Amino acid sequence: MSESNNIIRPELKSFAPYSAHTSPDTLKEQFGLSIDEIIKLDANENPYGCLPEVNRALSEYKSFGVYPDAGQQELRNSLSKYTGIEPERIVAGAGSDQLIDLLMRLIIRPGDEIINLPPTFGMYSFYARLAGARTVSVERDGNFDINLNEIENRITPLTRLIFIANPNNPSGNLTPKKYIKRLLDRGIYIVVDEAYYEFSRETVMDWVENYDNLMILRSFSKWAGLAGLRVGYGVFPLEIADYLMRIKDPYSVNAAAQIAVTESLKNRERLFKQVQIILSERQRLYDKLRAIDGIVACPSVANYILCICSKCNASMVVQELKNRGILVRYFDVPRLRHCIRISIGKPEQNDILVESIREILGEGN
Ligand SMILES: Cc1ncc(COP(=O)(O)O)c(C=O)c1O
Repeated sequence: MSESNNIIRPELKSFAPYSAHTSPDTLKEQFGLSIDEIIKLDANENPYGCLPEVNRALSEYKSFGVYPDAGQQELRNSLSKYTGIEPERIVAGAGSDQLIDLLMRLIIRPGDEIINLPPTFGMYSFYARLAGARTVSVERDGNFDINLNEIENRITPLTRLIFIANPNNPSGNLTPKKYIKRLLDRGIYIVVDEAYYEFSRETVMDWVENYDNLMILRSFSKWAGLAGLRVGYGVFPLEIADYLMRIKDPYSVNAAAQIAVTESLKNRERLFKQVQIILSERQRLYDKLRAIDGIVACPSVANYILCICSKCNASMVVQELKNRGILVRYFDVPRLRHCIRISIGKPEQNDILVESIREILGEGN
């Protein structure tokens, strides 16, 4: 065994990398096409990208040679105005992913447990494992609703956090607020991940003052089109926010991301209009997918639709779409093996997608 293999933590030796959507560089290599030439519906990004104001502000900024503000003062103030929550409770990160990681590092001792509600966003169990926590999985039911009684049964003295993606990724459905309340009333720390809030408009932000065990995560990757700049934020109980600010990497949110957030929030009405366009496209795409024999589209309040292939092989469909330069998301886990998650694209992209699926399934003209 090599030296380096010996110093790796044994419990991480079988760690599989996060199976991410295809990156722009890989796409170029694989297809010889640039990112703009591919119909990329696999990562719930905003098909319209960021606002032109963001690009303009970035090109005019003259101080990239200087470190950004480690205290995130201006950023936290802008986020405070946006959320209505005091800045001291807000911590920004390089994507909300980074805040999940930080939270685990702050809270988890080896052997602690987190409760995860799969199928759901993969990074909760990813970072839990990295931090040495045991992930207790309570599967969602056939409609992807959480199983409240079973969650309560699985709470132990070792339970540190429960993660609820709301809406859930990949299923696109919401957890009723009264369920979240019931769990909060148990006194366990609950992370409500509202990465898709601007699409769903459902939030528990107004409960933050009343529950000192509630944490909320948000992202600029989806609605604001800033996925590549990596910026998200969380709203935490005061003491936790204070500790997160102490342990975070000082410059976790880079200067470009900070500028992009300021510009996006300044021009948020424009972004909201874009969100509206995406939402009407979601309805149009949903109706078209529903009309395809063999595809069951799940209702969604987010910017993606989970489709269950009732008569076809989902991985074959995903591969066939890929061959045509259309990327959608496949999850190679038993519960989702018959499913495809499709992000809402521009109208013309959605039309090509639907036509391609129809052709692949032999429904084409
Ligand atoms: C539910 C959920 N939470 C968090 C994230 C991560 O977002 P970010 O890009 O801000 O790290 C995603 C991204 O897909 C997500 O689906």
